[in-house]
Amino acid sequence: MDDLDRLQDELLARIDGAADPAALEALRIAALGRGGRITAMMKDIGSLDAAQRRAAGQALNAVKNAVADALAARKSAFDAAALDAALVIDTIDVTLPPRPESAGRIHPISQTIDEMLAIFCEMGFTVAEGPDIETDFNNFTALNIPPEHPARQEHDTFYLPSKPDGSRLVLRTHTSPVQIRTMQETAPPIRIVVPGRTFRADSDATHSPMFHQIEGLVVDETTHMGHLKGCLVEFCRAFFGIDDLPSRFRPSYFPFTEPSAEMDIGCSRAGGGLVIGKGAEWLEILGCGMVNPRVLENCGIDSTRYQGFAFGLGIERAAMLKYGIPDLRTFYESDLRWLRHYGFAALDVPTLAAGL
Ligand code: DAH
Repeated sequence: MDDLDRLQDELLARIDGAADPAALEALRIAALGRGGRITAMMKDIGSLDAAQRRAAGQALNAVKNAVADALAARKSAFDAAALDAALVIDTIDVTLPPRPESAGRIHPISQTIDEMLAIFCEMGFTVAEGPDIETDFNNFTALNIPPEHPARQEHDTFYLPSKPDGSRLVLRTHTSPVQIRTMQETAPPIRIVVPGRTFRADSDATHSPMFHQIEGLVVDETTHMGHLKGCLVEFCRAFFGIDDLPSRFRPSYFPFTEPSAEMDIGCSRAGGGLVIGKGAEWLEILGCGMVNPRVLENCGIDSTRYQGFAFGLGIERAAMLKYGIPDLRTFYESDLRWLRHYGFAALDVPTLAAGL
């Protein structure tokens, strides 16, 4: 019995002193493994006579159980310590940015287009695009601007060289020809917005020979001026982030809409700066109107059944107003200092939910 007590004491002391899980495992094998000390003693019990066997078996079993319990306790202590250490190493600093901010910036024109599309797509518009080089028919004639129409002069058009049949392609002077392409290809209902490059032979602090517009077109059986107003008022409020942005519609003229209007938004020029929102003054922001029935007919749409509204606005101008950019020409100068100042982080994807 003394031997067993001593064995137990020795094994428990060594288990207690095991330096690491590997040392503990070596002790387990040496005591309880197939060739282990306790295992060997178990086998020896078989050779005792029946009277001794029972008492010796019980005593040895008690030692075996005490050793097994000590091994399990020590092992779970090692496991808990390992977990604690891993947790210390694995701590996440949630205040760190998810990844280093990239050096590149998103150009304000791209950002502004993305913002506008986020608003219109939420309203149910889809995006349509068309080529920069257009036929004279799509850019003018189909939009109710026949060759002798004075509006042609106002557009300062870049013409490509005449073809043998006398026809000339043009660099599109507005995004409106995409209205024509869409109406020729798609049956109503139509609900599209068209961002893109446009070209006019004009250059100063507020005009560039290449600039950008976004166009909108809605055609359906019951579309009316109330839809136009609701859509555009909501768009301007969302774009400028001003819920009570004042607006008004002034009668105007475009060959492709009838009636036509220009939309103004409220602003204040007090103190020299321009602030969008409530104020004493008005700022023109876009052109719009009910699609001229002639334009619908030019595209093969029955104007007795369908009617629509359309609008167009300049993207640079909207970006200048929203972000306080004073000179149009700086948009195209590729000045990295300007881009670092006015550009946007690539992860700043505009959504209505996150704010524009
Ligand atoms: N195309 C016009 C322009 O370049 C803008 C415009 C005005 C487009 C009224 C429209 C519209 O669709 O209805 O000045």
